[in-house]
Amino acid sequence: MSRHWNPETPRPQNTLLCHIDEVKEGDAKGVGPVGGLKRKIILIKRNGVLHAWLDACPHYSTGTPMSWKADAYFNGDKSHLACHSHGALFDIETGECVLGPCLGQRLTPVEFTVSDGGEIFIASPAEEEKP
Ligand code: FES
Repeated sequence: MSRHWNPETPRPQNTLLCHIDEVKEGDAKGVGPVGGLKRKIILIKRNGVLHAWLDACPHYSTGTPMSWKADAYFNGDKSHLACHSHGALFDIETGECVLGPCLGQRLTPVEFTVSDGGEIFIASPAEEEKP
């Protein structure tokens, strides 16, 4: 399930985000802010794969939160993550902006681990947020 956790490496002692069952297949969930971050972390489960991005649109250097209400991170057909401030669309798997004012820029990835019990932890701090 985890795309970042290598079972051969020790699990870091890090911040719990939520249980994997709290992120439903095809949905997105905003968690936090936790672990000293100023923004939420967007967790998305798509085709059984979990993705995690910082909820900070790269259009402005301050990293604007992207949802228009709790957990509303998708565009209409749920094909992309959307920033509802100015309509930027982001590839769910790569975080790349594919439409909108920050074309070619990317969301900030959040490294995570998933325990045997299904708890999702931040594996390493996301890139420090801009003030
Ligand atoms: S702040 Fe996200 S598209 Fe403008």
